[in-house]
Amino acid sequence: MSEYHNNNARVRPSNQKDPRIKMSEHHKGPRAVIKIEKLNKEFGKGEAKTQVLSDINLEIQAGEYVMFFGPSGCGKSTLLNCIAGLEKPTSGKVILRGSDLAKMKQKQLAEIRNKKIGMIFQQFNVIKSFNVLQNIALPQLLGGLSRKKRMHRAMHLLRMFNLEKFARHIPTELSGGQQQRVAIARALINNPWILIVDEPTGSLDSKAASEVMELIEKLNKKSKRTVLLVTHNADYLKFADTIYHIQDGVIKDVERKRHISSSFDEKEHEEIKLD
Ligand SMILES: Nc1ncnc2c1ncn2[C@@H]1O[C@H](COP(=O)(O)OP(=O)(O)OP(=O)(O)O)[C@@H](O)[C@H]1O
Ligand SMILES: [Mg+2]
Repeated sequence: MSEYHNNNARVRPSNQKDPRIKMSEHHKGPRAVIKIEKLNKEFGKGEAKTQVLSDINLEIQAGEYVMFFGPSGCGKSTLLNCIAGLEKPTSGKVILRGSDLAKMKQKQLAEIRNKKIGMIFQQFNVIKSFNVLQNIALPQLLGGLSRKKRMHRAMHLLRMFNLEKFARHIPTELSGGQQQRVAIARALINNPWILIVDEPTGSLDSKAASEVMELIEKLNKKSKRTVLLVTHNADYLKFADTIYHIQDGVIKDVERKRHISSSFDEKEHEEIKLD
């Protein structure tokens, strides 16, 4: 019996394409939500030139929780900035959901950064002259929503994060942990695909830090957001599906704790939920 036959049923050999699957879906394994190919980044010119990232290759799947771990100055923030389109690689590619960032028009890149990537930093970066509600609503300004809808959505996130009583306060009246939660709510306001988080607990005491890490864990597990997080704290590595150990701008080791193999979904993401 040939390999085409099995109990008289025709079976397609595995190397033959299934006509029910669209051309774009014929690929090896799941489609990565982020793919980095041969990325190099240098700063400065001539004598002052320094190579900060060298030959970085990686693939991150939809819903994966990835951590980058390594000593100060090894290039973690530079890598996150290249992925977020804030820094341009010297060579190599960053491919986000199948699109090469370098080939995007400025406007398209700005829109992706505003709507699809939520960034969270150590220093919160909240605007001190705006109240908490205005801070959270801010990234929606590009979206063309009415003021009423923007504020309504910001209030919804504030409630979800148990911060509603601070809506009209200015951020400096809040504790560090509360300010970081405001910054996380702001990063989520446009329903992003990906959260890029750089040392989110670096300025917090251990209790506030645990709360922030728990919140990010929920955003990954309950809301299925892909998370890329930089940390110095080895205690947090247990949350990650994959850990990239970085040293002197090179990926020295990849630890895969759970294998995630889901392709990204072309549909809009569901609303954020925490339980
Ligand atoms: N805009 C820049 N111009 C020149 N050099 C830079 C620039 N940004 C970063 N660097 C250099 O690149 C290297 C990596 O910096 P990066 O901020 O990525 O490190 P990091 O791993 O995030 O460190 P940390 O854990 O301290 O935040 C450092 O040597 C830094 O001085
Ligand atoms: Mg850094």
